[in-house]
Amino acid sequence: MSSISTGASTPAISFQDVSKTYVGARGSVHALDNVAFDIQPGEFFGLLGPNGAGKTTLISILAGLARASGGAVKVHGHDVVADYAAARRSLGIVPQELVFDPFFSVREALRIQSGYFGVYDNDAWIDELLENLGLSDKANANMRQLSGGMKRRVLVAQALVHRPPVIVLDEPTAGVDVELRQTLWQFVARLNKQGHTVLLTTHYLEEAEALCGRIAMLKQGKVVALDRTSALLAGTASTMMRFKLDAVLPPDLASKARVTGRIVQIKAHDAKEVEAVLARLHAAGCQPEDLEIGRADLENVFLEIMQGESKPLPLKVEAAA
Ligand SMILES: Nc1ncnc2c1ncn2[C@@H]1O[C@H](COP(=O)(O)OP(=O)(O)OP(=O)(O)O)[C@@H](O)[C@H]1O
Ligand SMILES: [Mg+2]
Repeated sequence: MSSISTGASTPAISFQDVSKTYVGARGSVHALDNVAFDIQPGEFFGLLGPNGAGKTTLISILAGLARASGGAVKVHGHDVVADYAAARRSLGIVPQELVFDPFFSVREALRIQSGYFGVYDNDAWIDELLENLGLSDKANANMRQLSGGMKRRVLVAQALVHRPPVIVLDEPTAGVDVELRQTLWQFVARLNKQGHTVLLTTHYLEEAEALCGRIAMLKQGKVVALDRTSALLAGTASTMMRFKLDAVLPPDLASKARVTGRIVQIKAHDAKEVEAVLARLHAAGCQPEDLEIGRADLENVFLEIMQGESKPLPLKVEAAA
């Protein structure tokens, strides 16, 4: 088994100016552009970004499944290319894509994966994984008989079967039911408390906000934000108004609002701005329902960073007609 604690100076993961260009018949895609940051042992780290930002590409390079076009990646000091076996042993990776061998049972698949890392007589840990991931009654089921969410649970178990010090989860909760999401996070949080480093990508920003101590945001292959989660949230320190509306928002409010069906969210920095928005709605004949005023959450911060909006637009209040 790999040791979890290394010298304080050796990061668990070190991305050193990582670039990646995919060259294809129809031109090239710059998926990563000089990505550089370290993740320290014991961190719970979030890697966020919209579809196509480069998250899976970065994880594929970390896993040795893709080659960087430039730069280097190290896991506990082991270069993922030059020292592949040692780097890979330190990693447990839950891939975004569901990949499985249809000929084996769940337990067989886990034993094979364990043996691949040279870990035998591992049934006690395999049972613990099955139990914690709600798979105990599926241990002897064939992989192809499992539902999508259950297959994903097996992928999580496979990633953890050799007790890697660094756990990488690429959207582990996509398509997973609420109950398992909660048990999965309890389990991963416990492993993190025991000293395992966790790198997580997810589109569920409330999960990232609750779990991650630090977060990096990728946009078109570049790191556009990297800070403690609390600092990212404090950085915008703004208030959000949320309400339901059946009418169409006046254009000046619509341009700064986030609308999901009937639910409207608008940033307002202080009580005066809240009043200004309400006055504007009133002037336009709009009747907001279920008005709530709350702190901006990570989703608001994420959208603000991705839209490259640095300063809020000033709100002009027009005289009521
Ligand atoms: N094998 C490949 N060949 C060519 N282009 C690729 C390949 N894999 C990824 N890309 C491109 O690289 C970019 C980054 O893709 P990547 O899968 O890393 O994004 P992602 O952040 O994981 O997105 P998602 O949130 O959808 O999973 C995209 O433009 C994608 O089309
Ligand atoms: Mg991805």
